Order: sequence, then structure tokens, then C-alpha cells
Amino acid sequence: MTTQPGQPIALDPAQIYSALPNRGTMPTIDLVAELPADAEVDTLIVPVFQGANGLELAATGSGLLSKEQEITLWRVLTSVGATGKREELTPVPGELLATEGTAPATKILALGLGDIDESTDEDIRELAGVASRAAGLGSKVVSSLGLISPEAALVGHALGGYRFAGFKGASAKGASAKDAAGQDDAAASDSPVTITVLAREADAALLAQAQVDAAAVALARDFVNTPANFLYPETYANTIREIAEAVGLGVEILDEKELEEKGYGGIVGVGKGSEHAPRLVRLTHEPSADNEAPQVALVGKGVTFDTGGISLKPGANMWDMISDMGGSAAVVATMVAAARLDLPMKVIATIPLAENTPSSTATRPGDVLRHYNGLTTEVLNTDAEGRLILADAMARACEDEPDYLIETATLTGAQMVALGNRTPGVMGSIAFRDKVAELSQEIGENGWAMPLPPELGEALKSDVADLRNISASRWGGMSVAGHYLANFVTEGVEWVHIDIAGPAYNTEGAFGYTPKRGTGVPVRTILATLRHLAGTTKEG
Ligand code: BES
Ligand code: MN
Ligand code: ZN
Repeated sequence: MTTQPGQPIALDPAQIYSALPNRGTMPTIDLVAELPADAEVDTLIVPVFQGANGLELAATGSGLLSKEQEITLWRVLTSVGATGKREELTPVPGELLATEGTAPATKILALGLGDIDESTDEDIRELAGVASRAAGLGSKVVSSLGLISPEAALVGHALGGYRFAGFKGASAKGASAKDAAGQDDAAASDSPVTITVLAREADAALLAQAQVDAAAVALARDFVNTPANFLYPETYANTIREIAEAVGLGVEILDEKELEEKGYGGIVGVGKGSEHAPRLVRLTHEPSADNEAPQVALVGKGVTFDTGGISLKPGANMWDMISDMGGSAAVVATMVAAARLDLPMKVIATIPLAENTPSSTATRPGDVLRHYNGLTTEVLNTDAEGRLILADAMARACEDEPDYLIETATLTGAQMVALGNRTPGVMGSIAFRDKVAELSQEIGENGWAMPLPPELGEALKSDVADLRNISASRWGGMSVAGHYLANFVTEGVEWVHIDIAGPAYNTEGAFGYTPKRGTGVPVRTILATLRHLAGTTKEG
């Protein structure tokens, strides 16, 4: 499916997600310049801020409330001690503002912006997300945050409204260890939230883009949130095929036999301990019109579960390794968005999928694997598996002669040691790396540029192979992994490696527009990068 730029896109979540057994729900979002007189409103979100003399209403004169109602609301809010500080939520019964017996909404939700002069688009996205999370299931929400920034309000409301109920109780339609692809089409939601965002100039193109971006983030979250007994290489690849074909992407899937024949020794080596055999998925987006834009390759790590293999991980928190396919999820979701928005550039994704488990057929420490480009790796730790499958995928991706290669992976615990669990580490070709980090910060995923110090690359020399998969030292693990990957990028290709070990999966409480568990990072960083590159030509 392709869409003309500027035309709204009708979201059909049922079609997009039919292959996932239990998926999250997303709010239905509308953007309007004016609210229809007969609109049903359960919750009206009114932004307030900390002014010089205490609480003030933001975005007044929206037409949603009369002058008198605004004054009454201000009185009520100040009398109950609301201050307008950031993230403060104050519910007010709508009937307190009733005129001639009709209330503007069942409930008014005053949302504190803090210091309005300091607030950025990212603040609006986060606060819209907070408001969406506070809205009750099934409610009809009207938000005037769009009067401050329509784009930020749309994206924040959409992302913050994502909910993943998973496999609870009666709604757990897919809750048996059957193939994800074999499930029937469970309802997207019993009662999704509807959010109408009010903006002075309602722009259909902006709405379409925000909806497609948000749907992409939701798709990546759904994949990450799906447990590994449903999502393993075979079912994952089949699900990707179903979704990709529905939006008009080209799809090619290599199974374990073809991987073996074609020399993908890294993917085969990581996958051979598991009954669930590995796959390599290739997705192609061809833009509908000719263009001068550079060609881009995407690669994402798809380890559907990482036990560590023979170098077994400790039991505590091993369950978080359901997120070890987060890079692949982001790449698939980005490809779906690229197709739906018909981004004006050729993009090819190469996605290696494997389950890393110990068994008598598993790769052992000391084994040597031969990669797709002929380089060999001495595997000294089977838990450093991501780089082994990425090596093959990146070498394959470079065969297409892309101008840029964007690769992302939940690659190292060292990323979290260095940057915490909300900040992706961005490495690679200096100028491109810096651009990607800058774009990532603009859109709120906050990637940070990190170096590849040359001496860390030296530590990957092996006595018996071209490379070893770990260094002898415990320091700089994130950059060591970056160095390893650099060996599989062809000269002349501008590349970036985004380590999302922490940021892909939120193991703590929800915040801003980020729910628990799958976050969808770095979908919007990659989309922002593609949009940026679409505006450049091959020569730069
Ligand atoms: N998937 C892990 C990295 C990871 C750790 C992701 C924590 C998310 C949260 C990766 O495969 C891994 O095990 N890396 C090892 C590499 C080491 C053996 C050189 C690590 O970081 O400990
Ligand atoms: Mn590992
Ligand atoms: Zn891993």
C-alpha cells in the first residue's frame, strides 16, 4: 500500500497486526481545528503552567471553554492547591463548569507543564504521553495540547496511549504455546481510547505522518513484548512476511538450509543450539517515483531469546532477554512506515533471526565460524552472539552497495554501564554518527555519539581466526563491539551502529510516552534519519 504525500492514511490495525497473537492497543487519534458542537467528551485535557504568580491556564481561548468557565476552572484548581508544576495531574468534575445544565466534559484533567517558556517539543510529547496514560480505557479524550505544538501533541498522545495487556485472563486468546502465525485475528482492543487533538491549523499530512510513525513504534513494541515461546525465528519471519506484504514491501526469507549453503556461518553458528532454526529476512522498499536520494541499508539484531548459549547467563533477569530482538523489531517497523509513507528512497533491510540456547549441538567456546564475507571469528564467549549474526547480515547488506548503513542492536550490557538505560550509544562514521545522534536527541530518543578508540579494535585479534568475538579486557565493551562490527562494513559505506541494550526495553515504571517493557526505540531515530537522507543527494 502506498499513499500520496499529504493524504491521510486510514489506519487498519487489524490488517497490520493480524499475525501477532496478543498485541498492544493504540488510541485512535484525530486532529481537528474545531470540536463539533455535538462531540461527546469524557475527558478534556487542559494544559496549565507555573506562571510568575502561580498557576495559569495555557492555550486559553481555544473555544472549548468560555471565558467564565476558564475563570471557574482556575479558581477550582488554585483552591485545591494545584500549582501547574510539570506532570501534575488534577482531575476536576466537569459539572462544576456546567452552563445551562451542560458540562463541557465529564471530567477536566488539568495537566501541569511547569515553566512554559522552557518547554520544548519533547516536553509536550512527554506530557501528552502522561495525559494519555492517565485517560481511562474506552474514554473519549479531547486535548488542547495541540494548540501549543500539533506534531508533538499527536505523537506524544499516540505513543503514550499504547497499552499491552498481553495474556491476561479471558482476553488471552493466543495464550498457548502455538505458532504466533497460526493464531486467529484477536480484536485489536476491547475499548480503545479516542483522542481528539485540537490545533489551530489541522494538517492532514502531519496527522498521517504522526499516525504512521506511532503505528510503527507500536508494532516494534508488540514484537518486543511478544514472549519467545510465540516469537522464534520461524514464526517471527512468517509474521514479518505477512505484515510486509500487506504494505507492499518486497520480502525474501532464507531458512537454515539456505543460510548454510550460502555461507552465513555466523547466523548458523548462533542458531544451531536451538530447535528453533535461524532465518534471514530481507525487506525491500522501492519508492514509487524516481529520485536522487541515497540508497540505505538497515540491519537489526533479531535474537528472539538470548540465554547466552554454552556461556550461559545467570538466571536473574534472564527474562529480559525476550527483548534481544529489539533492533530487528525497530527495523521491521521502520520498513513498514517507509512503505506506508512511500519515503522517496530505496531502503533494503537485512534482518538476522536466531535463538541463542545451549545444547549438544550449540556452538562451543573456542569454535571458529566463517562469515558471509569470508572473514572468520573465534568464538570465545557464546554470549557475545549478536555481533556474530550481525556480521553476516552487514556483509550481505553491503553487497547491495548502499550509500548508508544503519544498524541497531541490543548488543552490550556495557551500553547500560556507560549510558544508563534510556540513552542509546551511537557509533560509526564520524559525521554520520554525529548527525544520527543529533536527530535522535531532537525526537527524544536521545542517542549519544560514542567513540571507537583504535586500541579497543586491536584487542579483537585472534591467534587462529581473523577476529575473536570478545576482547581480553573488561573495559569499553560497547566500543569493542562497535569495532568488531566495523570489520563487516565495506569501504566507502557511511555507517552507524546504535546500541539499544537498555533503551529498547523498559524494566522500570512507565514515564512520559514510554510504557513498561518494549519501548519502540530507535524507530523514530531511524525514521528521522531516513527523512533527513531523503532531503540529500548521493553526493551528500
Ligand atoms: N543481549 C546481550 C546484551 C544485553 C545485555 C542486552 C543486557 C540487554 C540487556 C548480548 O548478547 C550479550 O550477552 N552481551 C555480552 C557481551 C560480552 C559477553 C562480551 C554482555 O554485554 O555481557
Ligand atoms: Mn548474549
Ligand atoms: Zn544478545
